[in-house]
Amino acid sequence: MSAARILIVEDEDKLRRVIQLHLTTAGFDVDTAPSAEQALPYVNLADLIITDLRLPGITGMALIQEAQSRGSLAGIIVITAHGSVESAVEAMKLGASDFLQKPFSLDHLTTIVQKALAIHSLKVENRRLRDELDQRYRFDSIVGRSAAMREIFQTVSRVAPTRTTVLLAGESGVGKDMIARAIHQNSPRKNHPFVKINCTALPENLMESELFGYEKGAFTGASVNKPGKFEQADLGTVFLDEIGDVPGNIQVKLLRILQERQFERLGSNVTRSVDVRVIAATNVNLRAALEQGTFREDLYYRLNVVPINVPPLRERKEDIPFLAIHFVEKLAKELGSPVREISPGAMDRLVDHSWPGNVRELENTIERSIVLAGGPLLEAADIRIETPRESRAQAASAQQPLLPEGVTLEQWEQMMIREALRRANGNKSQAARILGLTRNALRYRLSQIGIEGAGVDEEE
Ligand SMILES: Nc1ncnc2c1ncn2[C@@H]1O[C@H](COP(=O)(O)OP(=O)(O)OP(=O)(O)O)[C@@H](O)[C@H]1O
Ligand SMILES: [Mg+2]
Repeated sequence: MSAARILIVEDEDKLRRVIQLHLTTAGFDVDTAPSAEQALPYVNLADLIITDLRLPGITGMALIQEAQSRGSLAGIIVITAHGSVESAVEAMKLGASDFLQKPFSLDHLTTIVQKALAIHSLKVENRRLRDELDQRYRFDSIVGRSAAMREIFQTVSRVAPTRTTVLLAGESGVGKDMIARAIHQNSPRKNHPFVKINCTALPENLMESELFGYEKGAFTGASVNKPGKFEQADLGTVFLDEIGDVPGNIQVKLLRILQERQFERLGSNVTRSVDVRVIAATNVNLRAALEQGTFREDLYYRLNVVPINVPPLRERKEDIPFLAIHFVEKLAKELGSPVREISPGAMDRLVDHSWPGNVRELENTIERSIVLAGGPLLEAADIRIETPRESRAQAASAQQPLLPEGVTLEQWEQMMIREALRRANGNKSQAARILGLTRNALRYRLSQIGIEGAGVDEEE
């Protein structure tokens, strides 16, 4: 790298020469001028300008404006008379990067020059990453430059125009949701609904009514006809998240949807048809579930038409700098923070971490660091990596609604009771144990919701 070229504009001969000597000794290429007029021919050659504000003829302020309009400078440092802070402030507003008050030490000058040059090269480097990111390493708002991510972008753009079923696999926080949405957004279905269903922790009969809807009277509390998610998603996309948690009975119905696009609402024998594209996601290894027999093989093959495996972030570290730049830009804007650049030390820390929570954890860490950072530069000390598993799980669950959409606490309780009875094969003592209730308490609840035979207690 060649030495930076510095232009010194100072009318005091002695001071100008001293600065020149000092900076030349420090290894810089130096031009000098006793006035702004004489400095003009050198402005375009300079990487950095040091200028007095009070000059004969054209003022230092005018020189700053002139220099600003001419190409890329690493910085302008102004020299002000003792006690004239106002003019220094004004100069900074015009674009000066720093100021020195007379009298100053030459070492201090060197420090300021080096700092201005360092920040500038950092900006250049960050800008290069940003440009590269914009031109090549982005698909919608999904960022990635690793071979794995680029292959995923390719698969997404090939599969999006079709109705082909896609199975996304990968650890929590790797971006499965984002990819599912990108497939929908880039498909001819994009103006129709994208309906996401989280299959975790829904009891079987509730899941059935969620997915396929129900008819009035299908169960206690079913007072109106209600279409399910598949009907809502007609002409659009259904995203089945955590597909590995779907119970066996529903697996059969999903298989039918995938094969024939047909289903019945709960409590109805009218067969309905829908035109949906199905995307499923899992963060467990579905193959293990296949071997244990908890996931149907025929359904697995129907889902796994186009598999997309999203590797954990620790296996694609080359994505980290681009993701970091992307999140700094996005989050600083959202948070109204002045942070713009990431120092090399901070970047090293981000790249070195293993990110058990994947991209979600990286995003959260950058948000926290931006909030706590002092200035426009994110430095190594600002990066606060903390991944207590507990609080991450809490943060994730805080975003989930407590009850499934449209279900009241009362309905939920009824569904739990029915589920318990189902698991206990109708044996009320056992169902009560599952629910942590006494037999009497369960009997009372059953009579409240009008389940038949509430008074009879068949003992095992
Ligand atoms: N490649 C990426 N580029 C930009 N942002 C990403 C990328 N991958 C993930 N994110 C962001 O990380 C967060 C987690 O992503 P997402 O919800 O898609 O992960 P997931 O795999 O569905 O996780 P989970 O298994 O927990 O549901 C989101 O805020 C998302 O915007
Ligand atoms: Mg997800």
